[in-house]
Amino acid sequence: MESRQSEQLFKEALEVMPGGVNSPVRAFKSVGGTPITFRRGEGAWLEDWDGNRYLDFCGSWGPLVAGHAHPYVRDRIEKALADGWTFGAPHRSETLLARKVLERVGFAEKIRFVNSGTEAVMTAVRLARGVTNRPYVVKFDGCYHGHLDSMLVNAGSGLATFGASSSAGVPAEIAATTLVAPLDDENAVTELFKKQGDKIAAVALETIPANNGLLYQRPEFLRFLRDITRKHGALLLLDEVLVGLRVHPGFAFQQYDVTPDIVTLGKVIGGGFPAAALAASAQIMEHLAPNGPVYQAGTLSGNPIAMTAGLATLEVLFDQGGWDRLMAVADRFQSGIEKGLAYLKLPVQYIQTGALFWFSFDSEALPRTSAAIGKPGIARYAKVHKSLLEKKIYFAPSGYEVGFLNIAMSDDEVDWAVSTILETIRECYG
Ligand SMILES: Cc1ncc(COP(=O)(O)O)c(C=O)c1O
Repeated sequence: MESRQSEQLFKEALEVMPGGVNSPVRAFKSVGGTPITFRRGEGAWLEDWDGNRYLDFCGSWGPLVAGHAHPYVRDRIEKALADGWTFGAPHRSETLLARKVLERVGFAEKIRFVNSGTEAVMTAVRLARGVTNRPYVVKFDGCYHGHLDSMLVNAGSGLATFGASSSAGVPAEIAATTLVAPLDDENAVTELFKKQGDKIAAVALETIPANNGLLYQRPEFLRFLRDITRKHGALLLLDEVLVGLRVHPGFAFQQYDVTPDIVTLGKVIGGGFPAAALAASAQIMEHLAPNGPVYQAGTLSGNPIAMTAGLATLEVLFDQGGWDRLMAVADRFQSGIEKGLAYLKLPVQYIQTGALFWFSFDSEALPRTSAAIGKPGIARYAKVHKSLLEKKIYFAPSGYEVGFLNIAMSDDEVDWAVSTILETIRECYG
């Protein structure tokens, strides 16, 4: 595999950007080797600067549910561009996307668009504190909610505790406003509410935790969180930035029959452009500025190009048969992988929900907490990743990350990928 130009470009990137990247996991530290510098993407494929083409299972970490440069989405963006790209004033595309997303969310009446999932969660946390007038937020070990200070927090020692910052630069005083509990553990959350119940503004959870492998939770756990938050006057914040519109034609919480107070959205709703959002009842959302006292703003929030890309992507999914195609791709991929793994009888666990999947290479059962993910499995993933790259399949460069399917994948491409992935796994255990 020729990779000279791509490697040279990355060397140049290293001279001017820390780690050569603008988001750390892209630097391949977890899998080793040099990150590939891509030149273009089309449909299900990525092409690097040396002309190598890779079937893409990373999908820009989730937004590209329609694949790269989908013709309909591109056409809509190009038309929107011709009219200018930012006004810092109301634009019709904001209302159109708001309606389209709210239709899918169901319970929420109002939405605010921001530029990233981090911003959405940051605003949602502030809103929850503003609505309840309470200081603490509960987060779960192993969930990722973006890089806002109060969520860059791990469990300290003990069952359920005040958080310790997981990044330098986060003051202990800020980390201490986040209480951290293990996933899958009702007792730990009950304890927290016993001790701090009247100070907890919100419990935040990824509806399906998907940033430390895919830590599918028991439905009873979500229902328990709904009940305990309600009982103590705290809000339930479900973060669907990653899983929203990937596992259910609405949002994942609908699968569990649990309705949050606030939901955060991102990735798919911006169609690959910087857009994310929070949504809730009108009563909660009215606390946001300009109507209420909780401040939030953004120069480029609700940007017309991002709104148009999101709108066009949702039209592809829900008005043009895209969702059915996505589920057909997902079913074909899942049944191929599951049949193959059953035949190979290797210690590999596979989990897929809708168009999201994850391989666990060391556990005997699928983990439900991040503590249950072993280092040997992550090391084995690095081997699989390298070998897949040689065979022209692009998986995310970390064993903790999930894989993403998209509607641009043809049946033949799915079948080829399934057999190549299985063959690679078999070789890596050989
Ligand atoms: C569940 C969840 N919340 C928040 C974020 C942060 O989103 P962004 O990277 O757009 O800031 C992510 C990013 O992957 C995420 O998966």
